[in-house]
Amino acid sequence: MPTIFVTDRAGSQHTLKVDNGLTLMEPLREIDNGIEALCGGMCSCATCHVFVTPEWYAKLPARHSDELELLESTECFRDGESRLACQVKVTDAIDGIKLTVAPEE
Ligand code: FES
Repeated sequence: MPTIFVTDRAGSQHTLKVDNGLTLMEPLREIDNGIEALCGGMCSCATCHVFVTPEWYAKLPARHSDELELLESTECFRDGESRLACQVKVTDAIDGIKLTVAPEE
């Protein structure tokens, strides 16, 4: 069960244990000041935008073109950090990942 370290929109830190097979969207929408995930993971709203630390970003599977297109349409897009939480699967490979919830648009 991987552990993820999250800084929420208010700047508070959370340490979450997450089941493999979920996406990062599920735990992040349960915390206070987390993500909205309005489209429920359909890669069409960008309200699950997070900034992954660069060292962890490099370890994640690459973004698909539709994820990148949506992220680039946001005001706070950061190349090399921005991901949609709904498009990142939770596996043992991301145990210890550090991320921050992006500002509300
Ligand atoms: S939940 Fe809508 S794009 Fe991720």
